[in-house]
Amino acid sequence: MRCISLLLLLVFLNCEEKNKKEDTQKIVYDVYKPSEMATLMNEMYDYNLAVKDSILNGYIPSHFPIDFMEIHKAEMTEGKSRNSVFNSFSEVFLKVQEDFHKTTDSTLVILNYNMMVEVCISCHQTECVGPIPRIRKLLIQ
Ligand code: HEC
Repeated sequence: MRCISLLLLLVFLNCEEKNKKEDTQKIVYDVYKPSEMATLMNEMYDYNLAVKDSILNGYIPSHFPIDFMEIHKAEMTEGKSRNSVFNSFSEVFLKVQEDFHKTTDSTLVILNYNMMVEVCISCHQTECVGPIPRIRKLLIQ
């Protein structure tokens, strides 16, 4: 009987140990997990890089593959929050994205595309300057 309890105790301890390990891994993972906003931004970046490529190859993209409206509700990295400046830039950004996708005049495509990228940059100048050099690479010279 005593032997069985000891065995159970060992199994129990072992299980505790394992849970602890999983917990630590989870904490580490949470620290490095990008916010919803950062994820959305990276998707927008990749998407617009592909758009730049298509334009240079003579194609005009006509629909949004990503939900850009998420910019209004995506949760941000801790310490960052939406303020009125951010909200107005979000509005302007969605508007120029939409205008760009409605462009059918091939002489205006590059202009409208660059204008949209300039809005990415303007918003970044107000609070998140880090990615600006990367975003500039999206501009079509
Ligand atoms: C309305 C303001 C605003 C607009 C417009 C905007 N951004 Fe951002 N961007 C932010 C903020 C704020 C963050 C930081 C988000 C966070 O850390 O939660 C960010 C983060 C980023 C990041 C870094 C993500 C990471 O991994 O930490 C990239 C890259 C980026 N944006 C690219 C873009 C591109 C490309 C556009 C235009 C297509 C754009 N942004 C438009 C405000 C904006």
